Amino acid sequence: MSKEFSEVGIEAIGLYVPKYYVSLDDLASARGIDPLKFSDGIGQKQMAVPPPDEDVVTMGASAAAEALQSVDIDQIDTLIFATESGIDQSKAAAIYVHHLLHLPRNCKSFEVKQACCGSTAALQMAMAMVAQKPTRKVLIIAADVARYGLCTAGEPTQGAGALALVISAQPRIMTLESEWGAYTEDVMDFWRPNYLDEAVVDGKFSIKVYLKALTESWAQYTEESGRSLDDHSRFCYHLPFTRMAEKAHRQLAKLNDQASAHPQQYEDSLHYNRVIGNSYTASLYIGLTSLLETSSEDLTGHRIGLFSYGSGCMAAYFSGKVLPGYRDFLRPQRMTEQFGARHRLSVTEYEAFYTHELPKDGSRYFTETYETGRFRLSGVEAHKRLYEPAQQAKHSVSSAQPAAMAG
Ligand code: HMG
Repeated sequence: MSKEFSEVGIEAIGLYVPKYYVSLDDLASARGIDPLKFSDGIGQKQMAVPPPDEDVVTMGASAAAEALQSVDIDQIDTLIFATESGIDQSKAAAIYVHHLLHLPRNCKSFEVKQACCGSTAALQMAMAMVAQKPTRKVLIIAADVARYGLCTAGEPTQGAGALALVISAQPRIMTLESEWGAYTEDVMDFWRPNYLDEAVVDGKFSIKVYLKALTESWAQYTEESGRSLDDHSRFCYHLPFTRMAEKAHRQLAKLNDQASAHPQQYEDSLHYNRVIGNSYTASLYIGLTSLLETSSEDLTGHRIGLFSYGSGCMAAYFSGKVLPGYRDFLRPQRMTEQFGARHRLSVTEYEAFYTHELPKDGSRYFTETYETGRFRLSGVEAHKRLYEPAQQAKHSVSSAQPAAMAG
């Protein structure tokens, strides 16, 4: 590779979060649970809820549109869409986004899946594609709606969001290093059969498997790289809920014979997740964005350790180094702009969003208009999903108030 193309990494990031959320204090009181269990026990404040006219395609397209603001779309050679909330068993969500964003005709577009780790599989694929042909840019979209049953233990760990990355040989935010650790084991900790809209989960077991997969993938990563814990300044973890990072970091410290884990090594990665909730494939990368956008310290040159976990299970440990000038390509005002303008739903309104269904008999149906990103799901006809650019919202939820980080 020529010097100009000697590194592969993240050139641009886009993030999209639905415009509606539920306060976990409200959810706790509706479910008769001590609010401290959600705020302190699992570490969550709010969860993002998509309205009926938003899905992984609209969320993913909005995130990608932001990432592509500073990238020439004609250079996008491949679009990989990672999701476990797919809208079709055959046609990739990537194809809809390809159309909505007017990506080049020769851009390959497809979908990948392995629970929350699908996005990381996409990342490794993208790195190999760029290393093979350094003029190539790969757009990765990770988008999901985390759904468990109403009134279940998993309910407070729901959420939704989308994250897009442009991977290229001209990274501006972070380079990605080539040493990886991986771990796969056939376990039933969390899964979603084709006939269910919600995940089935063995919650406590899933936490144990997550930590085992961390141990195993870290071991291979350190063996390959020769690095130790001290070679990393910050750590990002897949975040089903923020207290999971605390458990994971404690485990990593123990594995490395350190008496205590240092929360300051991961806490800036938690800010966004705490008010979004789990976003499955997007979660780790939303954590990374949170770290880079909210850390008061200049992280230039710092190595970040990244742990990706996908139930079922597959996990990966890898790392990246933050590039000089990275802040010029991020949106640290996001916390106030994007999250601060969201509408707070009552629990009854959230349940109405949650239970909304599109017809399954092929009949024509127009979705009511809510506040969305740049695109909306306008309806279905003859079993085809119809998308359109979003105009001004015509429908407001009766009591939903623009509110924000409170609650
Ligand atoms: P649960 O049974 O409701 O909660 O399930 P719990 O009783 O274990 O309590 C949770 C914590 O709150 C505990 O703290 C309690 O002590 C504490 P910990 O022991 O962990 O330190 N607590 C309180 N704290 C303060 N005041 C109180 C109070 N009461 C209790 N009054 C669980 C929790 C996370 C298991 C559940 O929400 C769940 O099943 N979630 C979904 C599964 C999940 O998130 N698993 C995580 C690992 S698997 C993964 O990350 C993959 C995934 O993203 C899917 C994919 O890959 O696609 C999920």
